Amino acid sequence: MAQKIVSVVGARPQFVKAAVVSEQLRAAGLPEVMIHTGQHYDANMSDVFFAALGIPEPRYNLGIGGGRHGEMTGRQLAEIERCLLEERPDAVVVYGDTNSTLAGALAAVKLHIPVAHVEAGLRSFNNRMPEEINRIVTDRVSAVLFTPSQVASANLRAEGIAESRIVEVGDVMYDAALRYGGTARPPGPASGGCVVTIHRAENTDDATRLGVIVAALIELSRLMRVTFPVHPRTRKALTEAGEWGRLAAHVELTEPLGYIEMLAAVRAADVIVTDSGGLQKEAYFLETPCVTLRGETEWVETVALGWNRLVTELNVPDIVAAVSGARPPATDDARPYGDGHAAAKIAQFLRATI
Ligand code: UD1
Repeated sequence: MAQKIVSVVGARPQFVKAAVVSEQLRAAGLPEVMIHTGQHYDANMSDVFFAALGIPEPRYNLGIGGGRHGEMTGRQLAEIERCLLEERPDAVVVYGDTNSTLAGALAAVKLHIPVAHVEAGLRSFNNRMPEEINRIVTDRVSAVLFTPSQVASANLRAEGIAESRIVEVGDVMYDAALRYGGTARPPGPASGGCVVTIHRAENTDDATRLGVIVAALIELSRLMRVTFPVHPRTRKALTEAGEWGRLAAHVELTEPLGYIEMLAAVRAADVIVTDSGGLQKEAYFLETPCVTLRGETEWVETVALGWNRLVTELNVPDIVAAVSGARPPATDDARPYGDGHAAAKIAQFLRATI
């Protein structure tokens, strides 16, 4: 029976996942020590999440954000190892697919501490994404793979991962959306227009793709209100490309939103445009159609159920057509991401089995 867990977080989506799991660890009476790598460090990318979601203060805050991928991951690895040597936990919990996830998993497994990966088994099958490398390596070295869906479990089986390591619990982001967003849409037509988030390297660091996105958003702003909370990476890219002013003249550009504010914005919106993984699902949970500006998605269920549409070949007419034509499909009772109790199942499993 586990006596102590260390969890590693660092980037915005991990704070949300950790909030619901952390609460259940407390309910299960399993002590948790949290390490924050510092990957996200702006107040509106980190502190506001801890405050709004009531996440306990991390014991360690490593302050390692920015820099190239190898540098960031390597520095985090060295520092997390030091913390783990001090804490000697029974297991380390890592979340999702960021550089902090990979650093936490590697540090633990090299010290022979079992790793539990929350949100295991997702695949985009695109190895040019840093997140895909982080997922594959983390899943390979983890002792317990908590998967969010049947598709994720099947991905692991297809890679030859033993059944005994796969624990399908559902999606902790679904737990969080139920807890903090509610699911029932307000009656009547939504009036929030289009809410946009873009932050993936493949879109921000490619001048052609970024230019197409800017042109499409300007075009869309003639048809509907467009609101765009801007991630720091995207702000930098737009500024360097000289696009910030042109976009700001048509689109409401804001600071990144807190989690609960974001859920409210998604809920009120007519359509979401994004390249985020989490937002594709939040749109689905809150019954707002979504258009995803990526060549592929890990969350294939949202597409199959008709809530999400990919624009794979990025161009202005296709984006505008997809967004202006986005409509909710007929609702069904498919529940591909579990029953809203994923976090409790994770806590109980860790308590009883590790
Ligand atoms: C990271 C994750 C991505 C996740 C996203 C959520 C990796 C490889 N990617 O991407 O999977 O979807 O978080 O937001 O881990 N920056 C700031 N202030 C901050 C945070 C970042 O200025 O608070 C800057 C960084 O210095 C860097 C850039 O934004 O220049 C990108 O940050 P980084 O953490 O490398 O990756 P994300 O794009 O946020």
